[in-house]
Amino acid sequence: MIGSFAGRGIAEWQKVAEMYAAAGVDAMELNFCCPFIPEGLEKDEANAFIGIYFTQHPDKGAEVIRKLKETVNIPLFPKLGPDGTHFVEMVRVFKEAGADGVSLFANDRHLRIDIETGKPVNYGPCAGTSSHLKGATMKWVSEIAQGLGLPILGGRGVNHYEDVIEYLMAGASGVEMCAAAIVHGLKHVKVLLKGVETFMERKGYKSIDEIQGRALKQIYSSRQMMEDVKSLYAEVDLKKCIGCRRCPEVCAYEAIEILPKKVRAIKEKCSGCSLCSQVCPVAAIEMKERENDLDHFRALAWEHKELMPELFKK
Ligand SMILES: Cc1cc2nc3c(=O)[nH]c(=O)nc-3n(C[C@H](O)[C@H](O)[C@H](O)COP(=O)(O)O)c2cc1C
Ligand code: SF4
Ligand code: SF4
Repeated sequence: MIGSFAGRGIAEWQKVAEMYAAAGVDAMELNFCCPFIPEGLEKDEANAFIGIYFTQHPDKGAEVIRKLKETVNIPLFPKLGPDGTHFVEMVRVFKEAGADGVSLFANDRHLRIDIETGKPVNYGPCAGTSSHLKGATMKWVSEIAQGLGLPILGGRGVNHYEDVIEYLMAGASGVEMCAAAIVHGLKHVKVLLKGVETFMERKGYKSIDEIQGRALKQIYSSRQMMEDVKSLYAEVDLKKCIGCRRCPEVCAYEAIEILPKKVRAIKEKCSGCSLCSQVCPVAAIEMKERENDLDHFRALAWEHKELMPELFKK
């Protein structure tokens, strides 16, 4: 059982934490995420510091964590709102203050427009279900799992058992669900658990440990993307190519040469965007790793190489 709460002022944080501890919870989720500050509160300095304020001001969140660590001896999971820029660094601050894990994300005021009426849809603090925000949340789950290795409760857009598996594979230790449980009722938790069980049987997984973080080895953090990931180029397997000419249509770099009944990818011009391999109906195009990144930059500049003679010197 995890107790989830917010406090207004440190005394209230401590008081509620003590009440939860007395009630016997196994962990506490600290609401650093609520995007809804009731009118009037923000005028009152002491009470203004609630919810999303602590995601936006991690040093203040760290103060709350340190105080609660002195107050109770129960694992603490700050719950973040998606209102920051670099969550790995933010969570590092919370971890150093004593957080035992982290929970991400809550909803924020995301915006959609009804194009028939021109009016915003669901533009409020809870803003309905958040399936379309799952990918953005999972990206940070994976980066925090890789960068800090502490337990993560992942959630936003959990509707089906597949969502649970995805969050686990992205590195979450547990998964949260809110809107779908409200819409379908608490019985929906059982539906998801059954789905997870059936999936595990079908795939031969013996434990959640085998699933958790499974995708991480193949997910590159933003920094790794810059430093470690090799550039790609397309290569056409002439034995497989049926000459449908779909790939030259999608190549914005004119890197596909049309041959009689076949095509050929021109390595020197290929940007590695992979679009051709995605549209090929017979999987005749393989994306291969380049030996060096310089060739990639040369390919990007190919059209205007006279402007960058330095780049093309051997
Ligand atoms: C009606 C509603 C009420 C919510 N109330 C809270 C709340 O009191 N505390 C909290 O931390 N998050 C609250 N949330 C956010 C959810 O816990 C959850 O983080 C968010 O909805 C994303 O998950 P979901 O896609 O499973 O709904 C609320 C969400 C909804 C839709
Ligand atoms: S990977 Fe992109 S740039 Fe290269 S050939 Fe295919 S479509 Fe063209
Ligand atoms: S899309 Fe595939 S089959 Fe069609 S021309 Fe390109 S490589 Fe050949």
